[in-house]
Amino acid sequence: MFLYKKIVLFLLLSSAKRKRIEQAPIQWEERNVTAIQGTGGKWMIPPDAKESMNQNKMGLKGPLKTPIAAGHPSMNLLLRKTFDLYANVRPCVSIEGYKTPYTDVNLVTIRENTEGEYSGIEHVIVDGVVQSIKLITEAASRRIAEFAFEYARSNQRSTVTAVHKANIMRMSDGLFLKKCREVAETYKDIKFNEMYLDTVCLNMVQDPTQFDVLVMPNLYGDILSDLCAGLIGGLGVTPSGNIGAYGIAIFESVHGTAPDIAGKDLANPTALLLSAVMMLRHMQLQDYARKIETACFNTIKAGKTLTKDLGGNSKCSEFTNEICQRIKDLD
Ligand code: IPM
Ligand code: MN
Repeated sequence: MFLYKKIVLFLLLSSAKRKRIEQAPIQWEERNVTAIQGTGGKWMIPPDAKESMNQNKMGLKGPLKTPIAAGHPSMNLLLRKTFDLYANVRPCVSIEGYKTPYTDVNLVTIRENTEGEYSGIEHVIVDGVVQSIKLITEAASRRIAEFAFEYARSNQRSTVTAVHKANIMRMSDGLFLKKCREVAETYKDIKFNEMYLDTVCLNMVQDPTQFDVLVMPNLYGDILSDLCAGLIGGLGVTPSGNIGAYGIAIFESVHGTAPDIAGKDLANPTALLLSAVMMLRHMQLQDYARKIETACFNTIKAGKTLTKDLGGNSKCSEFTNEICQRIKDLD
């Protein structure tokens, strides 16, 4: 659907042009986010992509390959750091008609996206001994906790669970948890729970229906959000949003680049499409969001035109055309 190694950004049309038109009022600006090195060898986002993002504020991003323990750093992470996209939001909601062990999962993981185990601070102490710093700050912990409670309130969700290991990482997770508790005090309308990460994993696979909004440090969120995605059918159907300060946000599918099926018209576009739906909601374009989401879910529910990973035989383009047709029928 979108090109590998591309970031797709858009400009909002002026409100005058936003009258009753069939298409969402979005003008796209495409930008590459190929890794480049600035002076001194520092890896960076290409300046034209950075400018476009700073100006347009909203982005929809295709997957970018992250090399393993070599080469350039993850451009996914560099984007999150560059634009201070501090909240990673991944809703996991069961999809009707797509058979999984659970039918009623309805939760959201909210992951601190800028520090923790992803701070990238690593040293060799002596030969054969390396150290990796998990950086936790009061400011970042407070703002992600506030984000989680605000999210719960504005999305009619009743409970926020802080996920931690403060019994082991007493100082770092201890600080994270302390900030969550403090923020919870100021949101009396939302119930607050705290749970160990391992207990959450155990309870999650036994009965995911007990969870609502979960907030946690970076690495825990990375792992737990994949686990939750598995409960609703995998990364092919799981959307995500990276929300930042200064009104900037980038939406992306959680899955990788799948090079084995590149160019074969086989990919499942659901995750990226639902990420775009999240983006439209974030921009208050609720009607467009609802229409696209309904068409996508109805296509899956009908079960006739499905990509291979969803148990069907259709190509990506056929599945997409079916969704487009259903959008037209809803008009
Ligand atoms: C994710 C991905 C990234 C992460 C990778 C691609 C760097 O797994 O968005 O969850 O580890 O955060
Ligand atoms: Mn991940």
